[in-house]
Amino acid sequence: MKALILSGGKGTRLRPITHTGAKQLVPVANKPILFYAIEAIRDAGITDIGIVVGDTHEEIKAAVGTGEKFGVKVTYIHQEAPLGLAHAVKIAEPFLKDDQFVMFLGDNLIKDGITSLVEAYKKSGANCQILLAKVPNPQDFGVAVLEGGRAVKLVEKPKDPPSDLALVGVYMFDHHIFEAVNAIKPSARGELEITDAIQYLIDHGYRVESHLVTGWWKDTGNLEAMLEANRLILDTLETNIEGEVDAESQIAGRVSIGKGTKIIQSSIRGPVIIGEDCHIENAFIGPYTSINNRVTIIASEVEHSIILENCTILNIGARLEDSLLGKNVKIERNGRKPRAYRMMLGDNSAVGVI
Ligand code: G1P
Repeated sequence: MKALILSGGKGTRLRPITHTGAKQLVPVANKPILFYAIEAIRDAGITDIGIVVGDTHEEIKAAVGTGEKFGVKVTYIHQEAPLGLAHAVKIAEPFLKDDQFVMFLGDNLIKDGITSLVEAYKKSGANCQILLAKVPNPQDFGVAVLEGGRAVKLVEKPKDPPSDLALVGVYMFDHHIFEAVNAIKPSARGELEITDAIQYLIDHGYRVESHLVTGWWKDTGNLEAMLEANRLILDTLETNIEGEVDAESQIAGRVSIGKGTKIIQSSIRGPVIIGEDCHIENAFIGPYTSINNRVTIIASEVEHSIILENCTILNIGARLEDSLLGKNVKIERNGRKPRAYRMMLGDNSAVGVI
């Protein structure tokens, strides 16, 4: 069996972060989301992985490389434009050939991994296996209607959802999916939808099995979901302190602190992960915060946030919460007159002031 990870796409709902980087490489608990997918696939015993890449191919190739560091072999497949998930399957046919495969959307996180799901699919003899999860906002996903436990109808992002069962971004197929992706037409948004391709399989008498996912699953397409994924992963964090914590600092709960990081006169209340070579001084870092490498936080409070590498937060005088800061962001309170907010923000930035 092979795997296909989809890492094209523009990540519009995560702008401005995705103006300069691939959404699949945004770290959750200091590890790129995409790496969780690669590891889940590897843990299910699949080592031959195709990654479909688009505009952000260089960055993804630099991060993942040949796959050797994960114990897998990666083949990159270039998608000229984001023409849909079914289009990605279509262009991957020379790689996938007649093998069964699992298709994994590179921005999806699934807590319990996919090992048992891959086993179930192999045993089932079905042509396709989809995963479903109950969600409060089905209009944002592909949605399935079941009859007697079997999927009979799938609709992509319906305005008026016929059920609350969302299609999880992990699918299993055999080679019949190529017949489907070649037969369907682009949707109203101009994309070849995988949802339509699976509907084609159902309509043409192919066997489509569905499984309800009971552990958590996250499509990390927007800020709220990203923070939630960060929370869910940090809930499984174990304490590991490699940096230096001075005698005047307090560490409570599960906290991981990387090499070369200095914690001075600060309070860290886990679960919190702090990367390498950070400087945290006279600060409070509250629960569910992930701080990447080379971050400086002085005289400030940060909670429930994701801070990417090389950021500086100085003396801000209020608590930073529910925030995602891209690389090299600087937030500072300074004494300049007149007193004013001074900002240089990228397109589509969002700032809440008090
Ligand atoms: C895609 C699929 C959708 C599925 C979702 C899961 O949507 O089109 O059917 O429910 O992934 O993450 P996207 O997030 O690409 O808009």
